[in-house]
Amino acid sequence: MIAIIDFGSQYTQLIARRVRECRVYSEIFSCHTDAETISRLKPEGIVLSGGPASVYRVDHRRYRSLFCLGVPVLGICYGMQLAAQIYGGRVKRSSTREYGPAIIRTHASPLFYGLPGSIRVWMSHGDTVMKAPERSRIIARTETTPVAGFQRGNFYGIQFHPEVKHTEGGKKMIENFLTLICHARKNWTMSKFIHDTVQEIKIQAGDGKILCAISGGVDSTVAATLTARAVGKNLIGVFVDNGLLRHNEKGEVKNIISRFVRVRIVDARQQFIKKLANVKNPERKRKIIGREFIRVFEREADKIQGIKYLVQGTLYPDVIESGMGIGPSDTIKTHHNVGGLPSRMRLKVIEPLRMLFKDEVRKLGKKLGIPKSFIERKPFPGPGLAVRIVGPVTPQRLEILRQADRILLEEAAKLKHYHAIWQIFTVLLPLGSVGVMGDQRTYDSVIAIRAVESEDGMTADWVRLPREFLAAVSRRITNEVKGINRVVLDITSKPPATIEWE
Ligand code: XMP
Repeated sequence: MIAIIDFGSQYTQLIARRVRECRVYSEIFSCHTDAETISRLKPEGIVLSGGPASVYRVDHRRYRSLFCLGVPVLGICYGMQLAAQIYGGRVKRSSTREYGPAIIRTHASPLFYGLPGSIRVWMSHGDTVMKAPERSRIIARTETTPVAGFQRGNFYGIQFHPEVKHTEGGKKMIENFLTLICHARKNWTMSKFIHDTVQEIKIQAGDGKILCAISGGVDSTVAATLTARAVGKNLIGVFVDNGLLRHNEKGEVKNIISRFVRVRIVDARQQFIKKLANVKNPERKRKIIGREFIRVFEREADKIQGIKYLVQGTLYPDVIESGMGIGPSDTIKTHHNVGGLPSRMRLKVIEPLRMLFKDEVRKLGKKLGIPKSFIERKPFPGPGLAVRIVGPVTPQRLEILRQADRILLEEAAKLKHYHAIWQIFTVLLPLGSVGVMGDQRTYDSVIAIRAVESEDGMTADWVRLPREFLAAVSRRITNEVKGINRVVLDITSKPPATIEWE
């Protein structure tokens, strides 16, 4: 087992995921876990994550014992700075934050085995190690960062992030650490994950009935199928029509999902629209939606005897962005199914996919026998169109967005590379814009087109859509959707933006 110590990085689970990709089992621990607890679990190696804090703002002495467990340690970014501080090196706040790609020159180290001497890596740091500790060896540097990596005994530190896709050979570095340095056992597989998770749910639920929140997306379908393996007919799916769905969505979901799970459809449109009236703040919207979903599930649970649990298809990005990760991470946005849950709930939540990423869930779904056409459905957020209407959500604005979105999706389905797009959707902006139609002045709303490609939703780039496609979409939306006289294109990656606007 590899112990990953989380100092609050947005990328900690990406480290765990890369470790899984090497078929090695890992567990994530908060940085507040004491070294003795970790030692008792006999890890084969330790990885220290990055984090938002500065090393001189924390009492680093409390982490000293992590370095004395006799197993190799890999410190990433903050993890390396922490080691530099503990071993007597010098860490300094940089005047400029280094963010994005950089080229490192490497020196001989098992960490870089099989990789070229010059590598393009991904940096994201404000503090820099200016002087490596005594008895250490510098193993990587860049033009601006004198110590981009150092080794001291069985500690290996790197300033950049090997876990993100943009670091060339990053996965190989992690694999080198696991195999050449830790000699870790390779026994993690998707089948083992299915087996262990089914057993855990069986133990947790016993003979009780379980309600499952079904959205029609990949995550909730996979979570439901996995849970059904554990409890069979005791699983009851609930699909909520919250009035924030896309054109025709309810019908499509009903047709497809009933092939996998028994599902009840609840009409809660009035309830959601009423609660969202005049709400502009995106975080408030998300919290209201999360709370109302739970109210609906509790109402449904009251109709069936013996329901204690609610299964949700929560993924790791939902957890980390809601600031609910294991370490002290920042809240980016409250996902409706995590940070949006009310503080008091009658149902206990089971989240079998909480530690996985979307593409891992797709692989899992395939293993569970869910058809490819379904597995490849594009993500749609639980708060639905509400987080794609900037400003207040009203039935009129919902209808405008729904029609624009329908047109975009109809055109997008004809694109040759449609399958390679992670998400493509429209956003209704809170802006009025002057136009001219049939010789008359108009003052109507603006629609933005957002299309991104991504591996896991954690980082994303905007898609360079063909001009002809954009022209056709713009023409159709302004001609066919009453209330829109302007279409714009969002050309921002994540980071610095997020995929959804709210
Ligand atoms: P962001 O906007 O955070 O989105 O870059 C990352 C991915 O998550 C989806 N998303 C959500 N999914 N509940 C969900 O089920 C939510 O509250 C939520 N917010 C964002 C988003 O569509 C993208 O795929």
